[in-house]
Amino acid sequence: MTAVLVVDDVPAMGEQYAYDLKRVGKFQTIVARGGDEALDVLAREPIDCVVLDLEMPGTDGFEVLRRLQQRGIDTPVIVYTGTGSYDRCVQAVRLGAYGFVDKTEPIERVVQEIENALSRGRLVRELRTLRSRVDGEASLVGESAPMRSLRDAIARVAPIPSSVLIVGESGTGKELVARALHRRGPGEKAPLVAVNSAALPEQLVESELFGHERGAFTGADRLRRGAFENAAGGTLFLDEIGELPLPAQAKLLRVLEDRKVTRLGGDRPIQITARVVAATNRDLEREIAVGRFRQDLFYRLNVHTLRVPPLRERLADIPSLIGHLLHAIAVQLGVRPKTIEPGAVSLLTAYDWRKNNVRELRNCLERMLIASDGTSIGSGDVPPEIRGDAGRASRSASGEEHDEAADASAPPGTLKALKAQAERQILLAALETHDWHVTRTAEALGLADHSSLLKIMRRHGLSKRGSS
Ligand SMILES: Nc1ncnc2c1ncn2[C@@H]1O[C@H](COP(=O)(O)OP(=O)(O)OP(=O)(O)O)[C@@H](O)[C@H]1O
Ligand SMILES: [Mg+2]
Repeated sequence: MTAVLVVDDVPAMGEQYAYDLKRVGKFQTIVARGGDEALDVLAREPIDCVVLDLEMPGTDGFEVLRRLQQRGIDTPVIVYTGTGSYDRCVQAVRLGAYGFVDKTEPIERVVQEIENALSRGRLVRELRTLRSRVDGEASLVGESAPMRSLRDAIARVAPIPSSVLIVGESGTGKELVARALHRRGPGEKAPLVAVNSAALPEQLVESELFGHERGAFTGADRLRRGAFENAAGGTLFLDEIGELPLPAQAKLLRVLEDRKVTRLGGDRPIQITARVVAATNRDLEREIAVGRFRQDLFYRLNVHTLRVPPLRERLADIPSLIGHLLHAIAVQLGVRPKTIEPGAVSLLTAYDWRKNNVRELRNCLERMLIASDGTSIGSGDVPPEIRGDAGRASRSASGEEHDEAADASAPPGTLKALKAQAERQILLAALETHDWHVTRTAEALGLADHSSLLKIMRRHGLSKRGSS
């Protein structure tokens, strides 16, 4: 039910408005007898809309609007005035009021203004969700076997409300997986609240996650809902969970066990209705072994585990990732999209992406997009460190290491480099076709046995773990 706060220094006026709004608008109403009391109520209660008298002794309507602005509270406010002064209303709107009415106008007009303010608020929220959706980089790209099975796992786990742990190296797309889980689970309309555990100062962990009441500690000048509460009915994404300090781990464990949170300084437990998704690039089992992570918390979090494969285990995805990311980057930066030439794609596919996975590829593409002249990106635009690495791959792949080593500066685009790239692509295609089954792939390629295939794979930095 919509909660409306009516603020008027004349008690009879405030009560009359509240009564009429309840009757005509079917709102739940609260009355405050002045600016200070109104600010108190707003700090304490979830209010959907405020109907505010401009003329009050002490903290008047203008002052209330100013303070709300300072505190970043965006609850919609409708002001009313008895002076009939248009200028004063305009001034209030400049201070953030959504609308204004005259005290002589019928209550239906006030109800209408409130409805308008509420639907505008809804639109703003919807727009925010839509914008994040079309932001471009939000979908999981890749048709390789590991990506296909990851997507299957997401579809299986998404509708189940149990906790999910997402593990994977840095830059592999863990956050994208969390968003995909949310989209296919609670859905776009429900909140997704992300908390970066690594960026939380230790003394703020609790108030961020669980919230605090006004006055719970020095500086807590207003009520604050925690991430668990804000994510109600949706998803709470605890990113970099491996960085959470041990004392906070203990508190998080208790909350997950009770399925209830209590705001700091509060005494009312609030039921948790958010699904918890955690992510880490650390090996939590090793962290447990060295005493940096609680085992009991680990078991709470990893009811389901999703492993995001590193980019080097799904090289077949690189060409489609390049296309997708180039487009997304151009949209994001507001520049004209460029095409990329096959030579450049081959160089990027041959590189050993192990530092920062897809993020490294993305950043490299952004650099190339900005640095290249003309409408397409060619092999000349590929950064030297990446060309260098591809060159090394070509030398060892040709099988003539000694001769090749003498030719250390073999430029990309030469027959040797192209031969190596072609070999790599043939390998990847065959492995994909046979689901990374090494013996079958070796047979299909007419190699003596699986160990010959493994040797060639090693030269290309491919590992058997590419299978899923
Ligand atoms: N499969 C994919 N399809 C499209 N884009 C992807 C994919 N995987 C990752 N990306 C992009 O790569 C970048 C890194 O992804 P993300 O932030 O999800 O990684 P992460 O695993 O959370 O990294 P970190 O461990 O550093 O937090 C983002 O720009 C993301 O959009
Ligand atoms: Mg991340």
